[in-house]
Amino acid sequence: KDKKILYSGMQATGTLTLGNYLGALKNWLNWDQEYECFYGVMDLHSLTVRQEPAEFRKNARNLYALYVAAGLDPKKNCLYYQSHVSAHAELGWILDCFTYMGELNRMTQFKDKAAKHADNINAGLYTYPVLMAADILLYQTDLVPVGVDQKQHLEICRDIAERFNNIYGEVFTIPEAYIPKAGAKIMSLQEPEKKMSKSDENVNATIRLLDDTDTIIRKFKRAVTDSGSEVRYSEEKPGVSNLMSIYGCVTGKTMEEIEREFDGKGYGDFKLAVGEAVADELRPLQERYKQLIADKAYIESCIKENDEKASYFANKTLRKVQKKIGL
Ligand code: ADP
Ligand code: NA
Repeated sequence: KDKKILYSGMQATGTLTLGNYLGALKNWLNWDQEYECFYGVMDLHSLTVRQEPAEFRKNARNLYALYVAAGLDPKKNCLYYQSHVSAHAELGWILDCFTYMGELNRMTQFKDKAAKHADNINAGLYTYPVLMAADILLYQTDLVPVGVDQKQHLEICRDIAERFNNIYGEVFTIPEAYIPKAGAKIMSLQEPEKKMSKSDENVNATIRLLDDTDTIIRKFKRAVTDSGSEVRYSEEKPGVSNLMSIYGCVTGKTMEEIEREFDGKGYGDFKLAVGEAVADELRPLQERYKQLIADKAYIESCIKENDEKASYFANKTLRKVQKKIGL
């Protein structure tokens, strides 16, 4: 292969937030020049939490359209549905048999999620990292962009792959973490100690990618700041600092430039400027999204073509695995 392979994806639950966009999606846009990129709509993973079927189906389609609307070219990136490529579930099961419960017991995200969904601590939630390993290994992935919360999952993926390779020879490429140059961790607008997350139920805490301009500006106006009035980047001012990171991400300005721009001005002016900058940034995406959602045939054809492409690569690895283990 002449290009390194990069794999990522997002779960098909809820609408994407500005955090998903600035921390992930926006970074993905230029990678197809350097890497062979696969981005999944990770709908099998979403099943670890109970989903309302009609809404789930709609969310998955919206996520796909947002990938394209954000600027990922479906001719240059493999944008596909995880559930449409049955090799994910098949390899997932095989790798379950090469993973120790002791390893899964150490996963901190399972502990967090189990505490949050105490009424439905299912086996899928527990073996989630193994399915994620299958997602990555099926494509002979070289690079996986990971946030800090996913580092442990990439480690277990590498351990499983190495274990398998030690028994059967070089079947899987061992993936490496890819740390993007740009991008930031975006925090909740209401509780700036917490990351902005699509599962947050407080509507004012998150900017959704499809929020209209008025809504975006209103949410920024209500964003929690401290009792001071100076626009200064500091650990003691997490609310203002988060707004500054957001503003920096969308305008390309440094923290010093932002401090100078708002020198002598109050939080009100600053919040309005952040809201307007974010609304401007999202407007082209929202317009493309509207066109895409209206053109069902186009999205369907993109999905079909890319599902086939993903299946081709995934099945090649799956067949190799099956042969090695005697299936
Ligand atoms: P969420 O918590 O919104 O459900 P996921 O855990 O599904 O997000 O992550 C999807 C992608 O978005 C990942 O690549 C993750 O690193 C990124 N991401 C999620 N939230 C943020 C955030 N607040 N800031 C930056 N990146 C984020
Ligand atoms: Na999540």
